[in-house]
Amino acid sequence: IKKIGVLTSGGDAPGMNAAIRAVVRAAIYNKLEVVGIMQGYEGLINGEIKKMKSHDVSNIIQRGGTILCSARSEEFRTVEGRKKAHEQMIANKIDALVVIGGDGTFSGARVFTQEYDIPVVGIPGTIDNDLFGTDYTIGYDTAINTVTEAVDKIRDTASAHNRLFFIEVMGRDAGFIALRSGIATGAEAILIPERETHTQELQTYLEKEYKEHKTSGIVIVAEGDKSGGAYTIAQEIGKDHPEYDIRVSILGHMQRGGSPSAFDRVTASTLGVAAVDALLDDQKSIMVGLVHGEVSHVSFNKAIKNKKKVKDSLLILNDILSI
Ligand code: F6P
Repeated sequence: IKKIGVLTSGGDAPGMNAAIRAVVRAAIYNKLEVVGIMQGYEGLINGEIKKMKSHDVSNIIQRGGTILCSARSEEFRTVEGRKKAHEQMIANKIDALVVIGGDGTFSGARVFTQEYDIPVVGIPGTIDNDLFGTDYTIGYDTAINTVTEAVDKIRDTASAHNRLFFIEVMGRDAGFIALRSGIATGAEAILIPERETHTQELQTYLEKEYKEHKTSGIVIVAEGDKSGGAYTIAQEIGKDHPEYDIRVSILGHMQRGGSPSAFDRVTASTLGVAAVDALLDDQKSIMVGLVHGEVSHVSFNKAIKNKKKVKDSLLILNDILSI
């Protein structure tokens, strides 16, 4: 391998810039040429490729978003799109890729490596933390901190007015953001798709514990929860409990922005260097991750197909603490 390309794809996540910086500098450290590919796979197809030097990634470790921009490329899902991407790789003499993103990014990379036998290493970058084979994805820690700060503020006004809030957080079809931020904010209840029986549990809780002991209530609802989201569940509860003063807040894309936490910066730096090492070690179709604080390798196949489980211990923790 002489020249590698790096791109960010799918939803952006805080810490992606720190990962780009690490990939670029680790490549240069190992005497490789490195190019940045704009707009994810879309830029690969269209040849939006630029040489990266060490100073091109100066002063970005603290910045949210991604300097390479990101996209969810429909064209890369097609055989023709991937053919164009391969032609660009040949024209630009790119031997291998580092792709930073989530499961959609890795699904594309997996098919690409199968069709063209190109080494591709993935770095998990998504606020959702929904990738098997790594304890943390880049951006997750920052998103939890952002949600925690927002919910703390909502708690102030909820207490002032004795209100019950339903707050919807991101996470696609997983409940990692909801569960951890719910514990961090002392939420009265957390609704996540991984736990099926919670609507009934919530009713029981509101009738018993909440009525007697609480002056404000925060229910964190994962956007992928089976209840249908914060508005739907708030309406349902409101029908049965007209005595509650209920409000809904959808936090939305603010969860994806902001300066990455120190934890995300260190994770991104570690995984960026690990991705370049993996390519130099002849790895072809894997994601680098962190398991118990150590760098791990997992095939794209497993990272995409295996479902990461939420920790039962955290669910139990919340049951104990929300009484
Ligand atoms: O995967 C990251 C994420 O922010 C999810 O939590 C959310 O469901 C989705 O992306 C939103 O996507 P978009 O930015 O395309 O609306």
